[in-house]
Amino acid sequence: MKNHVKNLQTFAVKGKTVFVRVDFNVPFAKDGSISDDNRIVQALPTIIELIRKQARIVLFSHLGKIDYKKTPEEIEKAKAKNDMHKVYLRLKELLPSALPAGYPETEVKFVNATRGEELKNAVEELKNGEVLLMQNTRYEKGESKNDPELSREWAELADAYVMDAFGSAHRAHASTYGVPEILNAENKPTAIGYLVAKEVESLGVCVNPDKHPYIAVLGGFKVSDKIKVIESLLKKCDKILICGAMAYTFLRALGHKTGISPVEEDQLDYAKRTYEEAAGKILLPVDCVIADSFDNPTDIKVVHSQEIPDGYEGMDIGPDTCKLYADEILKAKIVFWNGPCGVFEKEQFQTGTKAVMEACTQSEAFTVIGGGDSAAAAKEFNYADKFSHVSTGGGASLELIENDGHLPGVDIIQDI
Ligand code: 3PG
Repeated sequence: MKNHVKNLQTFAVKGKTVFVRVDFNVPFAKDGSISDDNRIVQALPTIIELIRKQARIVLFSHLGKIDYKKTPEEIEKAKAKNDMHKVYLRLKELLPSALPAGYPETEVKFVNATRGEELKNAVEELKNGEVLLMQNTRYEKGESKNDPELSREWAELADAYVMDAFGSAHRAHASTYGVPEILNAENKPTAIGYLVAKEVESLGVCVNPDKHPYIAVLGGFKVSDKIKVIESLLKKCDKILICGAMAYTFLRALGHKTGISPVEEDQLDYAKRTYEEAAGKILLPVDCVIADSFDNPTDIKVVHSQEIPDGYEGMDIGPDTCKLYADEILKAKIVFWNGPCGVFEKEQFQTGTKAVMEACTQSEAFTVIGGGDSAAAAKEFNYADKFSHVSTGGGASLELIENDGHLPGVDIIQDI
């Protein structure tokens, strides 16, 4: 992994146009309000530093997904759903109150364009210390394809670039890769922001552990999503505690009854081989909380994990597993956790996820949540600030571990 020493503090950008790739891909509640603004809040220190330096700040980010294979009507609908203006309104509320006393006042502006004259004019009109948020980068079809023309158009507007979108750093897109690549070639400054620096440093402990025992807790739905990270973690950590729905694929692979629990049939061979080769490093639940129905559970009980009866589905790890896993976590020096232990959205099946969080926060270990649903659970149950680090990136934190500390959006930055 590169040594991340230089950062924004050495960046001389007064009066310069700095394009800052942030990850404002925030979740929304059913009523359309932002349900978790953490990614905006975590991006503020970099923005504030650039205001202090009196740069002309252009923020750009994707929001949601837009499938360009769909019909023009469906594409327009996806664009309307993922309009960055909703995020702008929250940024406009958050930024002024986060500015330290004595800071120069700033304007936070929005441009409803992603290229062309409207964008160019909005950038040109920016005064020193002002902030402009661009419309959703995925309004451009070329964004996800790292289209060179699109990258060139954005790069031509920028004197410098800051990568502060850790959650998107595993994507080699125009905004995360193409633009800094061009600026590097033109000898214009590129840097990582404070959010990315903190992520890389904290997750770096999980990539190159300097203490043991190092325990990984892996939950979530699919084994197939976690294959690479399991392989990588087996080389780094002392034990992997498997929970969540993916435990049932392992249990079935070992020949146990899993009832109607979700099982990835095409991963059975992989799961069996990996479990056997891990020679005791992979722990599986010893008991499970099961229910007769996912949507409308009426009969809920605890059974041995090898004997989930027909017609029942595993919904959470059981009390013996909670204790077994908590004991491992309490002995650990480093814990990396990604993926809830059960269906934590339903009250009856939150115990396993809470037990893991409780153990993590009781232990003296350096504890890291690898983003996604586990970060959402930690926030919901008020555990988030008790962890050493809660990543803002789900896929990105897994890929950082899988790729031994490398992510395209971080590696392309030259000044680190
Ligand atoms: C995320 O939420 O994981 C990041 O913002 C990346 O989003 P993406 O998977 O749509 O690229």
